[in-house]
Amino acid sequence: EEIPKIRVSLLQWYYQNQRVLPWRINQVLDIDVVADDCRAYAVWVSEIMLQQTRVATVIDYYNRWMEKWPTLQHLAQASQEEVNEMWAGLGYYRRARFLLEGAKMVVEGEGNFPRNVSDLCKVRGIGDYTAGAIASIAFKEAVPVVDGNVVRVIARLKAISANPKESVKSFWKLAGQLVDPSRPGDFNQALMELGSTLCTPTSPGCSTCPVSGQCRALSLSRNHESVKVTNY
Ligand code: ADE
Repeated sequence: EEIPKIRVSLLQWYYQNQRVLPWRINQVLDIDVVADDCRAYAVWVSEIMLQQTRVATVIDYYNRWMEKWPTLQHLAQASQEEVNEMWAGLGYYRRARFLLEGAKMVVEGEGNFPRNVSDLCKVRGIGDYTAGAIASIAFKEAVPVVDGNVVRVIARLKAISANPKESVKSFWKLAGQLVDPSRPGDFNQALMELGSTLCTPTSPGCSTCPVSGQCRALSLSRNHESVKVTNY
């Protein structure tokens, strides 16, 4: 069966090849609900920063941010001016405003992070992508996460051609069938990691790819095609 093979190969590759990134450190802490919320906060901040900014740039911003506001509760006490100052250079300041508003919403509401996608989506600034990342990585909900990298990887695996009709919705559905129900967070990050380091837009590294044997685009010699959906 193809899907279990893809899951195992991708996870194995990820455990051996993932980049050491500061927001991944506490993903191995799997202790109790307190650790859950630490992970959720780390995923939230990092994924919002990563939405328009490269990983290499985000690392320093993320570390400075976490030093100043180590928990959601710390962030909720911050002022907009402090947050903007910390964000300076990252651009799209609406993201920083929503992070602060969202932190206040959560802390003044339940006090804990919402633990599933539908509740997460009610928080200011958290959409399908961020909700999927937090729910799967921090809370192990078996939900997909789709960004441009994931779209390209899945399109290649299934040899889906660049087609303006291809909506991002269809990729959410495919990603949902693919996600490993026992390790959704690692699996989602494996897909993103593969897309950003190996299954790149113009020169994919198929010779070292863990799922080259399952890749329909490669078997059809269409592995240099790169699907980009614009109808997010
Ligand atoms: N790009 C955005 N989020 C990412 C993640 N969690 N892992 C790898 N690349 C990413």
